[in-house]
Amino acid sequence: MSELRSAGWYGGNDRNSFIHRAWMRRGLPEDAFDGTKPHIAIANTASDLTPCNAHLNEVSEHVQKGIWEAGGIPHNLPVVSLGETQVKPTAMLWRNMAAMAIEEMLRANPIDGVVLLGGCDKTIPALLMAAASVNIPAIVVPGGPMITGTFRGEPLGCGTDVWRLSEEVRSGKLSNKQFIESEASMIRSKGHCNTMGTASTMAVVAEALGMTIPGFAGTPAPDARLLSLSHETGRQIVEMIHADRRPSQIMVKESFINAIIAVAAVGGSSNSVVHLLAIAGRLGVDLTLEDFDRAGRDIPLLANLAPSGKFLMDDLYRAGGLLALLGQISEKFSTVSITVTGKPFADYLTGHDVFDDAVIKSPAAPLMEHAGIAVLKGNLAPNGAIIKPSAATPELLTHRGPALVFDSVEDLNARIDDPNLDVTPQTVLILRGCGPRGYPGMPEVGNMPLPKKILELGVRDMVRISDGRMSGTAYGTIVLHVSPEAAAGGPLALVKTGDIIILDVPNRTLNIDISAAELASRTPSVASVAAYASPERGWAKLYVEHVQGADTGADLDFLIGSSGDKVSRESH
Ligand code: FES
Repeated sequence: MSELRSAGWYGGNDRNSFIHRAWMRRGLPEDAFDGTKPHIAIANTASDLTPCNAHLNEVSEHVQKGIWEAGGIPHNLPVVSLGETQVKPTAMLWRNMAAMAIEEMLRANPIDGVVLLGGCDKTIPALLMAAASVNIPAIVVPGGPMITGTFRGEPLGCGTDVWRLSEEVRSGKLSNKQFIESEASMIRSKGHCNTMGTASTMAVVAEALGMTIPGFAGTPAPDARLLSLSHETGRQIVEMIHADRRPSQIMVKESFINAIIAVAAVGGSSNSVVHLLAIAGRLGVDLTLEDFDRAGRDIPLLANLAPSGKFLMDDLYRAGGLLALLGQISEKFSTVSITVTGKPFADYLTGHDVFDDAVIKSPAAPLMEHAGIAVLKGNLAPNGAIIKPSAATPELLTHRGPALVFDSVEDLNARIDDPNLDVTPQTVLILRGCGPRGYPGMPEVGNMPLPKKILELGVRDMVRISDGRMSGTAYGTIVLHVSPEAAAGGPLALVKTGDIIILDVPNRTLNIDISAAELASRTPSVASVAAYASPERGWAKLYVEHVQGADTGADLDFLIGSSGDKVSRESH
């Protein structure tokens, strides 16, 4: 084993090493500083205000046991945490801030490796971005989904059923009292959302990238096996440090393609696109929007999970789990890219049984034939836009209709239920000013509520287009991440109510039916460009001045790439 990074703090007999050692002598054994034992941070996103991750302190204790057992020294390191349902104005505004803060703390501290404890939507992306930039041995513990709650005898899917039930209230099918009653039944245990939302998807992504112990993703948070696997993860990080196995060796281009294939097969969140692009950017991996379309296009949807299907994460686990599902299309995965164990991800895809083929469909009878995220281009999205076909209405994937434009979320909320709104089921709802720079922070508002008068007709889906994102738990024929965004000069700012929009997902196009000359002659809607107030201080100011487009991951320009693990100067 080469010299440990932590020896740069603890090794030697000078005043600096004295200081580093002395302040850490609070129960650690004498040989903790002899240069043979790796010091390992547990980057812990546990927080009472990130309810999906609140159990991670208990998880950390089990990771610590595994580290001790394997001869390492564990250090619990609380890091910035983001509760998706709690933080305003949107958790995505803070993803890059969390990643930057974690990156700096990993660099600054005397550690040789890191265990990344995440769960709720933005936490695993931020942790992976940070670990990718520092590039010390790293491994993910996905916090796991909660178990299923029920309301009036029916299972409730987090998020997905909030959207469904609230639309039923607006259409008059459910009373508001019943809706509020369901609130107490939805969250039944520790863990993150139990649908194939963004948190579940990012656990799948972490595993397919090779960054978890294989077979970990999808283990329910209250399941005893989550703690066993956490213990094993503690052992594994010690082995990784001895083998000098780093994120840049694990997360190579083929690993990202594996992740894209896995997301398609499980019907994963559209948010995985922007997160995968950002992680790849930190590693210098040349991943583009086109890779998502190319790699995911022919992948069948095998997971019958909400929001694309019917069941919940607990059901996936009892039906055999992620590896059993992906094992059915094992030939699609790279045999080159390795996992945290040093062996290829593909090696772990054999020998698993499917116990419930209603939950895990076979490739011969999938839920959908071509489930990958589709990437659209055209005069409305020159740099690209995305749509999740598995969550859409098949008949609407080819559509032509007049635009109804909203310049901001506030504009949408003020007018959507206006009985005089000029809207029909053929109308295309457009929401702009919701991109990374325009909102700022790219909120999950692309799944616009349908106008009340449309709901009252019994219609449950319309084509919707925005430069924002949508919750991974949402569904509908929803075009997202339109790039460039309106606030960055994209043509979305030029659309007028009444323009004809042409959506053609089979041919991957998104256009306004007007000439190039007419489009060039228009001036951007002032409201959509200036709908946001330019932040004057703090993170938001830094963010708006440096954030990149969704088509490349919405990272800050100066955070793309790696910082490495070397810190040369010393303060004492
Ligand atoms: Fe945390 Fe859904 S709100 S995972």
